[in-house]
Amino acid sequence: MKVLVIGSGAREHALCRSLSLDPDVTALHCAPGNAGIAEVAELHQVDALDGAAVSALATRLGVDLVVVGPEAPLVAGVADAVREAGIAAFGPSKEAARLEGSKAFAKDVMASAGVPTARSYVCATPAETAAALTAFGAPHVVKDDGLAAGKGVVVTDDVEVARAHADACKQVVIEEYLDGPEVSLFAVTDGETVLPLQPAQDFKRALDGDAGPNTGGMGAYSPLPWADPKLVDEVTQSVLQPTVDELRRRGTPFSGLLYAGLAITSRGVRVIEFNARFGDPETQVVLARLKTPLARVLMAAATGDLADLEPLRWSDEAAVTVVVASHNYPGTPRTGDPITGLDEVAAQDAPHAYVLHAGTKQVGDETVSAGGRVLSVTATGADLTEARDRAYRAVARIHLAGSQHRTDIAAEAAKAAGAAETAPTVPQPAEDA
Ligand code: AMP
Ligand code: GLY
Repeated sequence: MKVLVIGSGAREHALCRSLSLDPDVTALHCAPGNAGIAEVAELHQVDALDGAAVSALATRLGVDLVVVGPEAPLVAGVADAVREAGIAAFGPSKEAARLEGSKAFAKDVMASAGVPTARSYVCATPAETAAALTAFGAPHVVKDDGLAAGKGVVVTDDVEVARAHADACKQVVIEEYLDGPEVSLFAVTDGETVLPLQPAQDFKRALDGDAGPNTGGMGAYSPLPWADPKLVDEVTQSVLQPTVDELRRRGTPFSGLLYAGLAITSRGVRVIEFNARFGDPETQVVLARLKTPLARVLMAAATGDLADLEPLRWSDEAAVTVVVASHNYPGTPRTGDPITGLDEVAAQDAPHAYVLHAGTKQVGDETVSAGGRVLSVTATGADLTEARDRAYRAVARIHLAGSQHRTDIAAEAAKAAGAAETAPTVPQPAEDA
């Protein structure tokens, strides 16, 4: 099978890495790609938002499958253009991608499908905003209605900050605050059959201890030792399948990757958001654990054959990824700085730890930073403690001037899992005082 992946982030590097390890894949192309992806796939220049250009490239390369990674091309209808050219595409249509592209649309689909989510108001005027902020009270949650790469959401106790964010956006969704841990659950779907993957947890805030602004994601881990083992089945039944069924019912079936961002609240699971594509950085840890060769899974979703696919097989290992970001991310990042230490990771830490590239490019002999999130350093291990030790050991070998990373990715979960393992299973008699 010949495959073309569209995109240039660490998610696309993770997809390309898995596809390059799949014996069914005879040729692997990526456009536009980055310096790391160039090591596993042949790169091509393309405007990823231009459906005609992407389908012309796919036709010229004679690929069997195009995998569209990021949301912007999906929302622009790139998967539709590829399908119109007679080539299988993994990724939803423009219409179905509105599930991510418009938060108001997503809320409407959830209401029709009976999917549990935060109560919300769509607001387009200062008066509507004021009424919604008063109705829910603090903490305030104000979301830009359009695509904002995970950065359009403001969660704040300060009503003035909430109001200012609403004023700066054309239309916002204001919603009740959801308390509780967050889980990202992905499902591959062909518009009818829903195949959930393993859950992961993302770290959205820029700084340790969940401080600082929201980002696209600073790290992730999987599995979630603290989560209810029934979670995946429950969410498939209460969230993923009803959403896929509702979009099919509306005549805009969703095929590709449905990403449910969930809050596990005291009143049950609630959807925080949907995305119409693999999440970044969660994909890096989920694919690190997937043992089923990836190409056939993506192809079955693209061709409507998921019901016939064998059950997915998963590694028992844990995976952790730590994002190395540029100076000033998520503000305007500093770029063009050389990255060193990548060879040492390859020489000393592989195969358990490896570097997936996000914003990088090759300039002569040097790999230089070219975006906000630069690298996603990923590792596997027998448990989260081993996986995170390996990931951080690799991070320590890498040098990028002014870069930042969180030091607490998966720390709490690893500690809790370790404590559960060493805890006595039978209550011990109290020591005599
Ligand atoms: P979103 O882009 O909708 O995923 O929001 C980004 C982040 O903002 C989420 O991952 C949460 O951490 C936070 N967030 C969004 N909606 C809510 C909510 N209703 N209650 C609490 N936190 C939220
Ligand atoms: N990890 C968050 C996202 O991909 O939107």
